[in-house]
Amino acid sequence: MAEPNNSLHIFTFLLLLFQLAFSWKVTPPLPILPLPSYSQLKWQQREIIMFLHFGVNTFTDSEWGTGLESPSIFNPTGLNANQWADAAAQAGVSLMILTAKHHDGFCLWPSKYTDHSVIGSPWKNGLGDVVQEFVNAAKARDIDAGLYLSPWDRHDKRYGHVKLYNEYYLAQLQELLNRYGSVREIWFDGAKGSNAPNMTYDFREWFSMVKELQSSINIFSDAGPDVRWVGNEKGYAGSTCWSTINATSLSIGNASTLDYLNTGDPKGTNWLPAECDVSIRTGWFWHKSQAPKRPSELLDIYYKSVGRNCVLLLNVPPNTTGLISESDVQRLKQFRGAINTIFSTNLAENCSLEACSQRGGENGGFGPKNVLDDDHLWTYWAPSEKQKENYWIEFKPKSGKIKFNVIRIQEAIGLGQRIKKHEIYVDGIKVARGSTVGYKRLHRLEMGVVDGFSVKIKIVKAKGIPLISSIGLHFDPFWKPKGKVISQRVH
Ligand SMILES: *[C@@H]1O[C@H](CO)[C@@H](O)[C@H](O)[C@H]1NC(C)=O
Ligand SMILES: *[C@@H]1O[C@H](CO)[C@@H](O)[C@H](O)[C@H]1NC(C)=O
Ligand SMILES: *[C@@H]1O[C@H](CO)[C@@H](O)[C@H](O)[C@H]1NC(C)=O
Ligand SMILES: *[C@@H]1O[C@H](CO)[C@@H](O)[C@H](O)[C@H]1NC(C)=O
Ligand SMILES: *[C@@H]1O[C@H](CO)[C@@H](O)[C@H](O)[C@H]1NC(C)=O
Repeated sequence: MAEPNNSLHIFTFLLLLFQLAFSWKVTPPLPILPLPSYSQLKWQQREIIMFLHFGVNTFTDSEWGTGLESPSIFNPTGLNANQWADAAAQAGVSLMILTAKHHDGFCLWPSKYTDHSVIGSPWKNGLGDVVQEFVNAAKARDIDAGLYLSPWDRHDKRYGHVKLYNEYYLAQLQELLNRYGSVREIWFDGAKGSNAPNMTYDFREWFSMVKELQSSINIFSDAGPDVRWVGNEKGYAGSTCWSTINATSLSIGNASTLDYLNTGDPKGTNWLPAECDVSIRTGWFWHKSQAPKRPSELLDIYYKSVGRNCVLLLNVPPNTTGLISESDVQRLKQFRGAINTIFSTNLAENCSLEACSQRGGENGGFGPKNVLDDDHLWTYWAPSEKQKENYWIEFKPKSGKIKFNVIRIQEAIGLGQRIKKHEIYVDGIKVARGSTVGYKRLHRLEMGVVDGFSVKIKIVKAKGIPLISSIGLHFDPFWKPKGKVISQRVH
């Protein structure tokens, strides 16, 4: 009689024989919880989302309206939402979010529950609906729509009367989520002036209603439930940034959790990735006196948001004509152009690859070559389960040296975020290191351009075996590192 231990070995051996004989595929490894939802994965792949702040503030040259503005000042005579959507499409954006109502309470759609809206405006003789035009324009270009409905309302008299205002807010949510087709993201924030009346929002009821009306939507707020705030309005994530966090430690409008929001939590029990909101200009609304940020600033934001496992929510405000200013349109084009210039070529594409080990051996389907294909989610290099540490993957050009100044690493986040610490070596010399990777980690090399015969990525610490879906070596012609410049390392 065989010992139980031996019978397990015999079983494993037979399984292996069967696999060989019938060429079964080696199974993927088990995931590490928590995992993203379908909608969260889709959101993550968007990388850049566009925000449009538009309303009475556009016409009063302010950021926070008082709620006392007359609807008659809202008159964007040349409003053309197709121009907004064209600008977004050129910038490679697949989701646009509009401020349907900001803190001033003015509604960009004809709500049944108030007269403080476009109904009272000269624009289209009170027959206009900005939300409808926005949604139509986006849809025509295959861009998804999202909406922001400010909880804080400085106009409505019901604000401060808990039951009445929650009913009013929920009624407007139902209008927005029932009338305008598919809405992919809804934005809630905790912004509120210090003198505002006390008000308790029924967030649980609101969120439940949102999910009931739009099943594939992502709800953004300081505390999720689908997407969290990154904790600042600069567009910067922490250099450590986990998509996981404990939602129970978060609450909306709680300033004491900003650092936690910025970095996430390796032990977090919720998948709640961060969105980095920032405006292309100083303010969120359009002001004649302001200009868009320089391309180098936008690129810096890209590296510190998308390049740190987050999605960038870039605000581009329409002007009083109702159009996005030409300077902003041009800036968006330059920004997208720069991203394409840097990332459309993977300098590692023809390299030969080697790794410490691979799941299922040579023909297991989890070899290092997977990091060079076009799938950045579901094909990946997986080391053997037997390997418990010292994970590495190495690139060698088939001839000569490889020269680059940016490295891109992507984890197969569909199976959980795992990497805690990683390092990059060129010909045995460390050129970059970092902690988390997540969906996408970008390193712009501090020392500038490096060249060498081999590039090795070491995964020093991870939760379980690391799974890497993509790696790229790139050249960023715009990157001019400050400080100790060793722009070329000569051998
Ligand atoms: C809000 O409530 C707090 C505590 O109940 C109270 O101290 C404060 O005066 C209230 N503020 C307003 C504006 O009503
Ligand atoms: C803010 O967050 C901290 C840390 O999670 C928590 O201790 C505190 O109770 C929260 N405050 C409010 C008002 O929710
Ligand atoms: C988050 O929750 C996990 C599981 O309960 C716990 O181990 C961890 O310490 C929590 N994180 C923080 C910062 O409290
Ligand atoms: C708004 O932008 C459009 C498009 O660039 C421009 O034609 C128009 O003059 C701008 N309006 C204002 C008030 O600057
Ligand atoms: C890889 O090889 C192909 C085919 O020879 C070539 O067209 C391409 O430019 C090479 N890529 C790089 C980054 O050198």
